[in-house]
Amino acid sequence: MTTMNAIRWTRHFEENTPLNDALTLPGSACLLPESVRRPLAESLAVFQLGETGGGTRLRRHAAGLAAEAGWSGYPQAIDRFIAEEQSHGRLLARLVAHLGGSLRRKQWSNGLFRQLRGLAGLEFAIQMLLTAELVAEVYYGMLYLRAGDPAVRRVAGKILRDEVSHLAFQREFLAARLLRLTPAAQRLWCWQFVAVHAVTAVAVAWDHRHCLRVLGVTTSDFRRRSGTACAAFVRRLRGELAAAETQGAVS
Ligand SMILES: [Fe+2]
Ligand SMILES: [Fe+2]
Repeated sequence: MTTMNAIRWTRHFEENTPLNDALTLPGSACLLPESVRRPLAESLAVFQLGETGGGTRLRRHAAGLAAEAGWSGYPQAIDRFIAEEQSHGRLLARLVAHLGGSLRRKQWSNGLFRQLRGLAGLEFAIQMLLTAELVAEVYYGMLYLRAGDPAVRRVAGKILRDEVSHLAFQREFLAARLLRLTPAAQRLWCWQFVAVHAVTAVAVAWDHRHCLRVLGVTTSDFRRRSGTACAAFVRRLRGELAAAETQGAVS
């Protein structure tokens, strides 16, 4: 039986999530020029929308998995994970307000992501989430280094740390689930994952091109960094799969 340590993750989210609502933003007004502030606020409003979903489908999928041996704790971990994403939504809403921007209720790529997540089972839903999180890792990393506003830097730094944990959470889940497949099927999964991620990175780079420009990042640079982040993720995932196979063969 291969599973993941859902209890540890539940505890992690319960301890970490309240820190996001407690995070204080620097009190001073935003000093960025309008030409920088506006594209930043518009771009962040799109990410804010992506963090605000209710997670209904994800919870339903996770509840279905709970019947399998060793997965009874997963729905609770997913529940806390969704709560953490929603805390990102609240944090980003405060940041968009700080930048003088307005929140969005609809956006094409966000709607597309939600539809795709509902298409197939839990593994596909997690894959689509993970794809967005890998892109977010690069995006928040760039904001943290380049935005030049203390509030943006503080929020981007905190969300970046959380998303790095989320990547580990999804990796632990996928490693446990992919172990049920043959090595050839695992390779095929990794291949399609990299392909879907590459297409997503192209779409995000184009969608956020104005924000990237004011950060001094070209869209091709964003795509390249996203590809590097994805390759690193897949390398670690394959390493974990190989280690688990070896452990299984020994025990
Ligand atoms: Fe998030
Ligand atoms: Fe996340």
